[in-house]
Amino acid sequence: MRRQSFISFSLFFFLLCTKTLGQSPAAAPVKAPPAAAAQTPAAQVAASPGPVDIIKILQKAGHFTVFVRLMQATTEDIELNKELNTTNNGITIFAPSDNAFSSLKAGFLNSLSDEDKTELVKFHVLPAFIASSQFQTVSNPVRTQAGTGPRVTLNVTTAGNFVNISTGLTNTSLSSTVYTDSQLAIYQVDKVLFPLDIFTPKPPAPAPAPELERPKKAAPDVESPTAAKDISGGLTVAVHNKAVLLAISVVAAILFP
Ligand SMILES: *[C@@H]1O[C@H](CO)[C@@H](O)[C@H](O)[C@H]1NC(C)=O
Ligand SMILES: *[C@@H]1O[C@H](CO)[C@@H](O)[C@H](O)[C@H]1NC(C)=O
Ligand SMILES: *[C@@H]1O[C@H](CO)[C@@H](O)[C@H](O)[C@H]1NC(C)=O
Ligand SMILES: *[C@@H]1O[C@H](CO)[C@@H](O)[C@H](O)[C@H]1NC(C)=O
Repeated sequence: MRRQSFISFSLFFFLLCTKTLGQSPAAAPVKAPPAAAAQTPAAQVAASPGPVDIIKILQKAGHFTVFVRLMQATTEDIELNKELNTTNNGITIFAPSDNAFSSLKAGFLNSLSDEDKTELVKFHVLPAFIASSQFQTVSNPVRTQAGTGPRVTLNVTTAGNFVNISTGLTNTSLSSTVYTDSQLAIYQVDKVLFPLDIFTPKPPAPAPAPELERPKKAAPDVESPTAAKDISGGLTVAVHNKAVLLAISVVAAILFP
């Protein structure tokens, strides 16, 4: 009987620890760039195409570091690479440049919940490959990975040489093609695309609109260490720490009655 409860408390304690450790804030230190691979990286890349890696493509392009960090923090990078491996329809990504993020106010990304961060990334991904020549014929509204409702779709229109995107909150144009093969297209946008779903009150329980819009002035680095920390995130960690302490004392009480 005692052994049983000890085991279940240990399990409980272990789960708590896992959960707590898993709670690394999205502003966590940037993953170190992968160590220089092998001796002849260039030759290797040429020799074995291997699976397409979205992060590598964006890193190579060089000016998507915030978006890359956001994808990694939400593990959407893993999801998308997996999907790319299994999809028949392909994927299209509207990748916001670092400039797009730097025009948001400092700490903006940190102020989003993990769920909203994930949704924000998904909103920049379409579950179909769209070549640049196909934008003229897409039918609006276009569904995103964030879903199908009017609050998570966007419109694409072409005007002259412009491919314009409108989300209801953000108007912008594609500024360049970063990558394209037959399954994956990545286009650069110079604004972060805001879905109505995150940045306008939810219909069932209307709440005051969160302050979101344009910053007074550009902030150099949204994810700078001095950026304001998410208060609710801190609270969660504190609560977890308390729970861990409690679990420790419970386990101790069982071990040393
Ligand atoms: C891609 O899918 C194949 C089989 O469908 C699997 O063997 C391979 O491990 C997958 N690769 C990745 C990177 O998920
Ligand atoms: C499309 O975008 C361009 C540049 O962003 C803008 O000048 C033009 O007015 C837009 N067209 C429409 C129809 O929104
Ligand atoms: C998108 O297009 C649909 C259909 O044309 C229209 O009803 C909707 O108002 C448009 N939304 C935005 C944000 O432009
Ligand atoms: C986006 O463009 C449409 C017309 O092209 C305009 O009615 C709307 O006000 C614009 N929205 C924003 C947020 O600039």
